[in-house]
Parts: sequence; structure tokens; C-alpha cells
Amino acid sequence: MTQISIDGTDCEAAAGSRLIDAINHAGVRLSQVCYHPQLGPIQTCDTCIVEVNGELVRSCAALIAPGMKVSTTRPEAQAARTEAFDRILRNHDLYCTVCDNNNGNCTVHNTTKLLGVEHQQYPFQTKPYEVDYSNPFYRYDPNQCILCGRCVEACQDLEVNETLSIRWEDAHPRVLWDGGSSIGESSCVSCGHCVTVCPCNALMEKSMLGQAGFMTGLSKPVLDSMIDVVKGLEAEMGYTAILKVSEVESAMRDTRTRRTKTVCTYCGVGCSFDVWTKDRHILKVEPTEGPANGVSTCIKGKFAWDFVNSPDRLTKPLIREGDRFREAEWDEALDLVARRFAEIKGLHGPDALAFIASSKCTNEEAYLMQKLARGVAGTNNIDNCSRYCQSPATAGLFRTVGYGGDSGSIADIEQADLVLIVGSNTAESHPVIATRVKRAHKLHGQKLIVADIREHEMAQRADLFMRTRPSTDLVWLSAMSRYILDQGLAHTAFLSQWASGLEEYRKSLEPFTLEFASKTCDIPVDTLKQVAGMIANAERVCALWAMGVTQHSNGSDTSTAISNLLLITGNYMRRGTGAYPLRGHNNVQGASDHGAMPNMLPGYQSVDDPEVRARFEGHWGVILPSTKGLDNHEMVEAIHEGKLRSLYLCGEEMSIVDSNVNFVAEAFQKLEFFVVQDIFFSATCRFADVVLPASPSLEKEGTFTSTERRVQRLHQVFEPLEGSHPDWVIIQNVANRLGAVWKYRSLSEVMDEIAALSPMFAGVNYARLEGYKSLQWPVDADGSDQPLLYTKGFHFPDGKARLFPLVWQEAPEQPDETFDLHLNNGRLLEHFHEGNLTYRSPGIRAKTPDTFVEVSPGLARERNIESGSLVQLTSRRGRVRVRALVTDRVQNGQLYMPMNSTESPVNLLTGSHVDPVTHTPAYKETAVQMQVLEPKGESPLPRINHRFGHPTPQRGVEVERKWRRPDYRFPGNTLVQIKTKQED
Ligand code: SF4
Ligand code: SF4
Ligand code: SF4
Ligand code: FES
Repeated sequence: MTQISIDGTDCEAAAGSRLIDAINHAGVRLSQVCYHPQLGPIQTCDTCIVEVNGELVRSCAALIAPGMKVSTTRPEAQAARTEAFDRILRNHDLYCTVCDNNNGNCTVHNTTKLLGVEHQQYPFQTKPYEVDYSNPFYRYDPNQCILCGRCVEACQDLEVNETLSIRWEDAHPRVLWDGGSSIGESSCVSCGHCVTVCPCNALMEKSMLGQAGFMTGLSKPVLDSMIDVVKGLEAEMGYTAILKVSEVESAMRDTRTRRTKTVCTYCGVGCSFDVWTKDRHILKVEPTEGPANGVSTCIKGKFAWDFVNSPDRLTKPLIREGDRFREAEWDEALDLVARRFAEIKGLHGPDALAFIASSKCTNEEAYLMQKLARGVAGTNNIDNCSRYCQSPATAGLFRTVGYGGDSGSIADIEQADLVLIVGSNTAESHPVIATRVKRAHKLHGQKLIVADIREHEMAQRADLFMRTRPSTDLVWLSAMSRYILDQGLAHTAFLSQWASGLEEYRKSLEPFTLEFASKTCDIPVDTLKQVAGMIANAERVCALWAMGVTQHSNGSDTSTAISNLLLITGNYMRRGTGAYPLRGHNNVQGASDHGAMPNMLPGYQSVDDPEVRARFEGHWGVILPSTKGLDNHEMVEAIHEGKLRSLYLCGEEMSIVDSNVNFVAEAFQKLEFFVVQDIFFSATCRFADVVLPASPSLEKEGTFTSTERRVQRLHQVFEPLEGSHPDWVIIQNVANRLGAVWKYRSLSEVMDEIAALSPMFAGVNYARLEGYKSLQWPVDADGSDQPLLYTKGFHFPDGKARLFPLVWQEAPEQPDETFDLHLNNGRLLEHFHEGNLTYRSPGIRAKTPDTFVEVSPGLARERNIESGSLVQLTSRRGRVRVRALVTDRVQNGQLYMPMNSTESPVNLLTGSHVDPVTHTPAYKETAVQMQVLEPKGESPLPRINHRFGHPTPQRGVEVERKWRRPDYRFPGNTLVQIKTKQED
């Protein structure tokens, strides 16, 4: 910290930090149109000019130096700021009263007021361009665009999609998509960063247009004449009077517009944001200060909320009558559920019942579901869909470091010197985490190694991409460990202090020579050496992995191999290091954390530990079952064997997302009584006896836990749609009808119970999670949490990590003569999982209407296939018909299908073989044959899909090109740029 003075007042500020932040912190009101703290100095607007030591500078670009004397009030500085803003107003028509952005937070409006602008020195000039409405979610109005460049900076250097630019040399510069395409046909991924950071109404969510204001829904001619009236008044009255009218209108909006903080319902990144609503209409999603995401979102969190108000929502319980369902009242449906559960339990014992909690539901709901299973039904048959994706990663971490969670935060991933991504299509599956890696890689020299069988975006961006042979990651990872140990490159000091089992582990590595790895994985020895060198020599390494690792028959072992490698190189226990299995669903981490597992009570406390059981029994007033229950996979088997007779499935499209779904469907048909709780009549509901209509996250309170172990509150945006109930209310009703006496009136009471029973969550309560506050478990009773998981040792009695020896076996299912192609599958950016939520967004449907199969150019040539050909894929389990997309993202005889389809689900093809440790299906090990049904057809991806765009990468907005324009002059008599970001 150093001393500076601002307007004659001494204050302290961090040397080297931004002057503008210090000025703002001191409470001095200074105009600053293009500055956004999360984007850094952009320097396009010149409205933040102040005097420093007698010179005029842009305060956003100036860095604090000892003894700085800053004046914001010197007439020269004030005049420069006013001149700069006058130039901005040349590009912007001030019609605030009838503008949808007149919500109290418009930077242009507020700056006009702050600077006391009464009349424009430079009259407003239109630009010779049309408004662009071609994106389904937002529109760009060049005539309102002040060319601040925030959107470009966000797209280029924060989202790093590199779509936007401004060609400063043009006579009339404007924002360009792909250098001049329409938005709809550009590479824009509709993440919304640009719209979120736009300081005025140039970029706006279409859901705001005509909706936000009292007079903004007027027809265009009426609106235009009103704008003319307003502008006509300016000459006489000046802006102060006009702004007053618009502020009255803005204040009126507050009476009907609500802003509610929630957490994204889609992936495990844990983005949080305010949802703006007017009655049940979503005006917009506004990310601001989420601890995981700041202003970032992806297309789903920003725009994919149409499902909440879909006419397809279930609003009445349904009861099966023969082949049909009839609507029923809640009492009748719940009575039936309780009666049938009790009958089946009475006849066949508690283990004839099973329960599956939803990873889309809250922590509190997962807790109540497992309490219902254990404490009311009396069975440990409880699981959640982490079985399908993340259990192997958890197992690998349990074995080696003790906790089954990310070992640091997203901020650590940003700080790493090297990021190693294995089997994760991060840019599509965890888009906001990918932005952090892309930004660090683009701006800060972070190195990136990607190992994958498919060349996705992160692979294309990587410094080193290894296209591995399917199911062989364990081999090259172990070979890295062996080579690093053999070459004396291991972190021996770390190992001797913090790890056990080195000798046994070293011995287990004997088979894993570089030559063996090269042959097995199809990677040249030199590449392997290079990778080993990069990992061993990097100061801080983070490893990210996902379903490309876990959904294999060796998913747990490969996850273990990643953790072993991190230990060998000392990449735990420091900022910028560690293991990051990226969790799929928004609350898949939390569902497991809160006991929706057959062997663990909440907080990963074993069901066979008598002390643990006694604690829960004392609190719940019941005797708990002590033997491990069935997991999802075992449940399906047990139904086929006649041992399991009833299932209560909450918010899970199991008949589409489990593997080998024909087998699963047959099992469901055998159930004596099947309850499905969901917000839509899902494909799985077809097998149900009772369907209970639940509420989505926007209609609930509660907490979610994201991939970085971050517990965050969501607040209720809407009342539950009439006829539906939040899951916790339904679960409590079922429990009480089965004889329990639960009296939860709010979810904070549930959280208090969780905290009392689980040392891991001892300090979690709603007060500590108010607003945007969050906690990363484990949380001590005093509320201190652990952003970095291992600081004083690992989660074992001796505090030491355990190197875990591994052996390798070929995957059981390989392409052969009959099923000659390898089928991979995974996520797509725009859809989530089977697509039950995202296909209900018309905008997403327009961009990405259906699933497809990716075919390599070589295979396409060989089989006479082109994009649009209809093919039939057949595996040992089933067949699907799907259109082909020819792309070099896949190679040779490897195919790829997105998992997002209920009509042609890839899981008709996948098998029931599993990772033996966790029973996670080996979804990624599927052999198929391909038959061409129609050689020609329409491409499954329309031209307006972003994958056909042509990004224009550059470093930020390139403001120097603006400064080089002949008509640009600095709006003051002098300029000293103390340090600009370009010099960083
Ligand atoms: S990708 Fe599209 S929505 Fe996202 S910041 Fe760039 S232009 Fe905006
Ligand atoms: S569209 Fe971009 S350049 Fe134009 S005002 Fe908005 S953020 Fe600034
Ligand atoms: S889907 Fe994931 S990355 Fe996208 S907004 Fe939601 S939490 Fe963030
Ligand atoms: S805020 Fe725009 S140049 Fe500083």
C-alpha cells in the first residue's frame, strides 16, 4: 500500500493497482463510460480523464504510484471529460423515457446527468446501418452504439469467442460480427457477455424489447414520433428536465420489475445472476458479481429459460389407468404413493424400495430424499446421477487425496502456469470455466495441453494436442509419472513430506514405459517426452477432466492416474494447482455431498460406521439400515431380478440418460410401482404409475453446490406454477403420509439440520449465504471455508496423500469386424443433457434443432456420406437413425454423437458394461456399424449455427487504431499514459 492524494484528501492504495478503482473506492463520482472492472481499461471513451501530478491522464489506464497527486476537479480535466462525453452523444439518441434500458443503470443516461450535460455540442448522427435482429436472443442497434468497445473486449478477451471487432478505420465504425457478417450467421455462441456489459441500449436482450418500460411497447411509428417530441423539447428545456421525466418513468418500473438472485440450473460451473422479471415474464438474466462467473454466462444460463413458462409444464398429478394416465388431485396421488410404498415394504421388506434423488434439485432436497429412503422407508437404496458421470472421479480422489471434490477454485485454474485437460470438451460442457482458461492462455501466457480423441475447441487452442486412442489415457498418464520419476524430475521434497506409498507405486509403473504408452495410445515418444517435460517444469499445474475420462470401464483408475501424476509433480496444496473433475449437472456435487448415495450419509459419512449412524438416529428418532444399498446401475439389475419392486425417481430422465436404455425400459416395465417426479411429462414418465408435478429452480429456494465445492443460495424468482410444488414439499408430504412427522417450514431449517449432523457443513447456514455470498466446503462451525482444499495436509488420518498403484486392461468393447466403428458421445454447448429443458427454447431449437453423428472426412469419402446423409447406427444393443455431419473434429473410424436427443438417444446404442469400482457405465466404449439409408439430405446443423462462423481473433478492441484516426484528438491539452494495458 502507498499514500496518494485524491482531490486533496490523503488515502492509501495498492501500488500498481488501477487509479480509477482508488477514485471509486474513495467515493469520488467520476464519469467512466468504457471502464468495467472485470474487463480492465479499454480506453476508448476518454470520459475518465483526471489530472495526475499536473498532467491529464485516463484514470482507468493509470496505475497507482507512491505520492501521486490526483485531481478530478481541475477545470481542464472536467472540460476534457465533458468534451469526451459530448463526442459519445454524437453516437447516441437520448430518448430515455421510451427506452427499454431506462432502468436506473444505463451508463449513458447516468453520465449525462453526472456531467450536467444540458445540450449536445455535437448533434446526434445516425450511422448508415440497419438494426440487426438476426440472433434469436439479442439485437444490435448501430445507431445507439457509442463505440465504447466493451462488447468487443468481452467477446475477444473474456469469453474469448473472438467474434466481435470494430474496424476503426471505417468512415462510420460500428461493431462487426466476424468482420461483417449478420449476427445470425456469425460465429457468435450467444453467450451474452457483450449484451451484459453494453453500457446502453445498443445491445439488448430481445426479451426486454417493448417489455421493460411503460411506454416502450408502442408501435414503431408512435415510438418514433414520441422520440421526436422528446428531442424537440431538448432545445428549450435542456436534458436535466427531460431526464427528470425519464427518471420518474424509471422509478415506476421498480414497482413491477423484480430482480432476484439465482444460480444456474444447467451445468456445474455454478454461475449466479439476477433474473429480472415482470410478472412471469423474464425480462433478462443479468450476471454481475457471481463468485464463479462475474459477468460471464453461456447461452443456457443467459437465454435458455423458456421452459419455465412452457405450456407443457405438468400442473396436475397423473395416475396410470391401464395404458393411459388420468389427472388426479394431490391428496389422491400422494395417498396412493404412500399406500403402495407401505404395501410393498410390508410384503417384501424395505429393500424392495429404491429412491433416486435429482442432481437438478437442491442440496436440501437431496438431503430430504435420502432421509426419506433411510429414515422413513428404511433402505439405503438411494443414489443420484453422479453414478453416470462423476463417481469415478470422486473415487480416484478418495483413493489418493481423501476428499471427492475439486482441490481448488476456478480462480486457481486461471492462475495455473499449465492446464492439462483430459477427456473434457470444456468449451461446450463447462463454458464459463473454459473462458477462464482461454483468457489466461490468450493474455497471460498460460500453457495448455489437451488429450482427447476428438479435436474440440480447447484442442484447437492447445499448445499441445494429443489425439489419443480411445480408453488409453491411464497408460500415457502413468507413463508420464514413470518417466518423470525415472528422470529425476519428480518433486521429491513434496513426496517425502506429503505422500505415502511411493515405492509400491513406482513398482506398479514398471509396465508403463514411453514405448508401451506410445504403442498403446498412438502418441509419438517424442510428444510424450515433451508433455512430461512441460508438466514437470511448470511451476503450477491444474488438471481438468470430465466424462471423456470417467465414462470408461477404467474411469476410476484413470482419474486415479491423474491424481497420482499431480502428486508426483507436487501439484497440490498451492494456489494454481490441483485436480478438477468438472461436475456435469448444476448440483451433481451437492446431491452426493448430501447423502444421495447408497453407502454414504450426508457429508460422506459411511453408513457402516456405528458412531455416524447413532448421531443420525438420535436426531431423526429412527433405526437406520447399516449395509450399503443399491446404486442406480444395481437398481436396474435388481428390478430385472425381481428383488426391487418400486422406485421413486426425482427429476431424472433415466430412460434416456442411463446406458443401454432398452434394458432400462424393460426394467421399468417390470416395476410394481413407479413414481416419477418431474416438471414435464418426460420419456421416463411413460413407465410411471404416478407422475408428480414438481417446480424448477426458478420457483424454489435452496442451495446448489458447484464443481468448485461452492455452496450458493438460489432465491425464488416465481411462485410455483399453479398445481406444481417444489420437490422438498412433495418429499415431505410423502414422508409424512408414511408416518414421519416432518415439520419443515423453510429450507433454512433443513440446512441447519444438515449442518448439525455433518461436520463437513458445520458452519453452513442461510445467513452466511445471503445474496451473492458463498461457502466452499468443508466449512467449520465458525463459518471459515476452504477455497483451497488441502492446505495443512490431505484428508487421511496421517495427513499424507496416497500414491495408488494401477494396472491397465484394454476396454472390453472394441470395434470388430461386425461393429467396426467406435462411437463416442458427449455434450453440446447449446443443449443440456437429453435436452428436455433446452429444446423448449425456440432460439436454441432454431440454431441447433436436432442431434447428429459426426463423421470424419476420410470415412465419409469411403462410405459416400455427406453432411445431411441419413445413416443408421447399430450396436449390440440397439439402433438409431440420425443425420451425418462431416467434420474433421473426429478422425478415421471414430464417430461422435451429442447426447442431446430424446428421439434418437445415443443410449439406445451404449452398453451395460461399467467401471467396476463405481458402476459408472462405459458410455464412451461403444462399437457400432453404420449403414447409409439416404445418401443426401439437409444438414442437421443449419447455416445459422455458430460452428459455421469465422471468428476474427484480435487482442481486445485495439483502441490504438482509433487513436490513429485522423479525426481523433485527445480531449485535453496533454496526455501522459502512465501505464496502459498494451504495455503490460
Ligand atoms: S460470442 Fe456472441 S454473444 Fe458472446 S460475446 Fe461474442 S458476440 Fe456476444
Ligand atoms: S454495442 Fe458494444 S461498442 Fe456499442 S455501446 Fe454497446 S458495448 Fe459499446
Ligand atoms: S450452463 Fe454452466 S456455464 Fe452456462 S451459465 Fe449455466 S452454470 Fe454457467
Ligand atoms: S473509462 Fe473510458 S477511457 Fe477510461
